[in-house]
Amino acid sequence: MCGIVGYVGPKPACDVLLGGLTRLEYRGYDSAGVAVLSDGDMTLVRRVGKLANLKAAITEAPIAGRVGIGHTRWATHGAPTEANAHPHRDCSGRIALVHNGIIENFAEIKAELAAAGHVLRSETDTEVVAHLVEALYDGDILEAVRKAVQRLVGSYALAVVHLDHPDLVVAARKDSPLIIGLGEGENIVASDIPAVLEHTREVLVLHDGQVAAVTADSVRVYDASGQQVEPDLMHVEWDLDAAEKGGFEDFMLKEIHEQPKAIRETLRGRMDESGRIQMSELDMSDDDLLCLDRVFIVACGTSYHAGLVAKQLIEQWARIPVEVDVSSEFRYRDPIVDRNTLVVAITQSGETADTLAGVREARERGARVFAVTNVVGSRVTRESDGVIYTHAGPEIGVAATKTFTAQIAALSTLALKLAQARSTLPPERIAALWSELVTVPDIVEAILADAQEIEACAREYTDAASSLFLGRGMGVPVAMEGALKLKEISYIHAEAYPAGEMKHGPIALITPQMPVVVVATQGHTYEKVVSNIQEVRARGARVIAVATHGDEGIRSHAEHVLWIPQVSEALSAIPAVVPLQLLAYHIAKMRGCNVDQPRNLAKSVTVE
Ligand code: G6P
Repeated sequence: MCGIVGYVGPKPACDVLLGGLTRLEYRGYDSAGVAVLSDGDMTLVRRVGKLANLKAAITEAPIAGRVGIGHTRWATHGAPTEANAHPHRDCSGRIALVHNGIIENFAEIKAELAAAGHVLRSETDTEVVAHLVEALYDGDILEAVRKAVQRLVGSYALAVVHLDHPDLVVAARKDSPLIIGLGEGENIVASDIPAVLEHTREVLVLHDGQVAAVTADSVRVYDASGQQVEPDLMHVEWDLDAAEKGGFEDFMLKEIHEQPKAIRETLRGRMDESGRIQMSELDMSDDDLLCLDRVFIVACGTSYHAGLVAKQLIEQWARIPVEVDVSSEFRYRDPIVDRNTLVVAITQSGETADTLAGVREARERGARVFAVTNVVGSRVTRESDGVIYTHAGPEIGVAATKTFTAQIAALSTLALKLAQARSTLPPERIAALWSELVTVPDIVEAILADAQEIEACAREYTDAASSLFLGRGMGVPVAMEGALKLKEISYIHAEAYPAGEMKHGPIALITPQMPVVVVATQGHTYEKVVSNIQEVRARGARVIAVATHGDEGIRSHAEHVLWIPQVSEALSAIPAVVPLQLLAYHIAKMRGCNVDQPRNLAKSVTVE
């Protein structure tokens, strides 16, 4: 995720900015830049790649100045190039700003600004904000920023400087974090606490809709209407390591908790006011989508499980047959793919060798290939006909969590798009499904807020040698992902099976020592799943059920119940997987495993 640092004070601004950005490096980024004010001038330096490139440029041509802003960019709109790197400036070159988040209505504002004569030089959504502030500026930069943000739809954390106000950084936020470290005669704006810890432990937390005027010895906070408000202050106890993990013990746990945000950001802006699903990246007309006679999904690991969820949604909603292949099989099996096939390659890293080979194979056969990835500018984006991005932010834990649920969010949107284009669902049904889909982040928040039972349950299974995960329908990929998480990070053998198939083999393995995790959420096969639970219990198994709130009856069938809120069956995969991520996490922690870096595994597998 992008990092923001802004500085006002007596120290050389560049040192503080680069130091702060270094503290945010763990979040991942692909370009970096600073803008520093001194003696009526603004110096802007931006570089693609690691901070070392930016540092080298600044060492070569040092920048004086005690006020400035800096940024590490994780590309979302536009490739990681110097022109797209932050800070961005207005036409006059007197305003510079850095931004985290996504401006959904940037295209509309950009068109307006261009019509008014503004010249925009980048592909980013951010640059429009600099020009918008310019257009609204009449001598009061705080007021111009406050007015500008009223026009923005989406999420933002902003730090802005103006040459007319050489002692001031203006900060604003909505749905993207921003804090201000309060020092002695200096203040530091930052997107995250690690960036300020070297200087201070006193922090002002900016809230949604607030705008702040930050000078060396004062911070004034205003609400959206321009009224000055009392700031929210806190003292930070965390050390740097804890701060990087947002106070969580591990990146994996942090990332599990970031899922509501990742899903929200991925869904953001996908439905327009007229009820049409927006997916212009597909670059296919409704007629093109109507001509499709088959969808092929190609992916590895956790992404493959997201593909299995997508298969069910696309088949149910858009009535197109879907095949899902692991990439390493697809590439060698001479698949039947032609120009009427849509191939969807799912890969969080965008670099998985087998998936890339599958993409090439499919394109050679004339199929249109569409990638779902979390990394802008990754190889899959260059090799595909279209890309839909998940906006999960960088994932550091090797075991995928937030990228998985963000993939399901993106693929659910794709399934609705196909249904809309092919008129396989009535508009009211699409509207209803969408309205429910956007509540999924709230559902995940509720699960995360009430997860004590999961930890208690984990404690009882830390010594298991082997486990079985069962489900039906949407519960099958959920069970597969739950089993994968457990084996990856706890090294307990875990096998997932469609519950109805269990009697043809795995039932032979069942003993009282073998925990059986069953996805038993509400759905049209619920009764069948309960019968399967009875089958395993009759053989002495201890059952952990994932079930829906209100299903009191399940208590008599399971030793432990991990609850999720009510949600329709089609949208149940995300809520149902979250307790299983946490179960795997707690079991692994109790076994003393390194959950962020499990043995033998890599985050991105670039070899065959
Ligand atoms: C590795 C990672 C998994 C990931 C898989 C596919 O095995 O450890 O978390 O699911 O690769 O990666 P991709 O980047 O293609 O989604």
